[in-house]
Amino acid sequence: MNIGIDLISFHAPAYYLDLRVLAEKRGVDPDKFVVGIGQERMAVAPPDQDIVTLAANAALPIVEKAGRENIEMVLFATESSIDQSKAAACFCHRLLELPARCRCLETKEACYGATASLRMAAAMVAQRPQSKVLVLAADIARYDLSSPGEPTQGAGAVAMLVSAHPRVLALDPHSGFYTEDIMDFWRPNYREEALVDGKYSTRMYLTTLIEAWNDYQAQSGRGLADHAHYCFHLPFTKIAYKSLERLHKAAGVPLPPKEEQHRLVDYALRYNRLTGNTYAACLYEALTALLDHAPTPLDGQRLGLFSYGSGCMAEFFSGVVQRGYRQHLFTEQLRAELDSRVALTYRQYEDIFNYGVPRDGADHVFAPYRGGPFRLAGIKDHKRRYEPK
Ligand code: HMG
Repeated sequence: MNIGIDLISFHAPAYYLDLRVLAEKRGVDPDKFVVGIGQERMAVAPPDQDIVTLAANAALPIVEKAGRENIEMVLFATESSIDQSKAAACFCHRLLELPARCRCLETKEACYGATASLRMAAAMVAQRPQSKVLVLAADIARYDLSSPGEPTQGAGAVAMLVSAHPRVLALDPHSGFYTEDIMDFWRPNYREEALVDGKYSTRMYLTTLIEAWNDYQAQSGRGLADHAHYCFHLPFTKIAYKSLERLHKAAGVPLPPKEEQHRLVDYALRYNRLTGNTYAACLYEALTALLDHAPTPLDGQRLGLFSYGSGCMAEFFSGVVQRGYRQHLFTEQLRAELDSRVALTYRQYEDIFNYGVPRDGADHVFAPYRGGPFRLAGIKDHKRRYEPK
């Protein structure tokens, strides 16, 4: 029985900052951001959008298309949690009007949380093939202003319906993984912005890619030539090319010419280049981009996927694109969303960055901004109040 992603949908906030504007403000050559790290725009979540609304906005097209029946679990992967106790999945469960007979929980291991959730979802479906699991991944990536991480900020959410006989991607059972206790990127509870040792984190990403790949190869017996395209976790898009180079070196296979490298990884970079790092959602945003942009149908082709979460956890796995998948994508809706985003001035970006929600529990009302069907209306008696627009 095939198990995997039946439907997948990505959602980004309605605002962005052009990285050329940021480069000018920071006195940096814009090519460092656009070419050097491969980012053009960063998505900026306005104050009335948080991980709950971003994820519910991503998931609504899925539940409207597939129906709500048999969704027996909602797994919410995030590292931008809004509560130390209640799972963000519970808020989404109500907004999406899901059945009461449903398990709701939150998962965390930096950007790896969504992959862990996907694997747990597949295991549950294997046990109960009639059930479906909604996997949500949403994050708002924040680093200190003027820090090296700032141009890699971003925001967005992915929703995936996991089922038996999936219409989009059947997951292969083999998977290679690796873990090690390191401090490359972390966010203590008292901070809104992540702390990061940028160069070390990049080194560890590439080192663990090879560890996970070696394990995947040993488990599955597959080589590089068995994968038609690759989707990588994308803290910045240039890392996809570095990853491809490392994989070829490790496999002892010559790096193909530029055009072929481009074919192998570039379609998957199209959205992340315009949103920045969406942490847990990132890899699956890349998968959505590949499915939406590949010029010829990918039916029956095997994809290689690499998930990395700082701290750290790495997994290399694969899946086969299902016949007729193109009919089940939300490509036009997403393109329309991205095309109608509003460009922020530097001042507007900084105002949103510094927007102060009371930290003492005082009541707060959020002015309405542009965004998807759900918004955060206010905080009253320490409770977040969400509403449809
Ligand atoms: P930096 O020190 O500002 O940049 O930080 P740099 O000096 O290393 O330059 C970046 C690239 O731009 C270099 O290319 C330069 O040569 C090039 P490379 O040598 O690497 O190929 N460059 C230029 N190119 C063209 N024209 C120019 C020019 N100038 C320079 N004029 C860094 C970069 C990524 C470290 C920083 O942005 C950062 O700290 N980011 C945050 C951490 C991060 O993204 N780490 C990635 C791996 S960890 C991960 O993926 C997990 C994560 O998603 C979190 C989670 O798991 O939850 C972050």
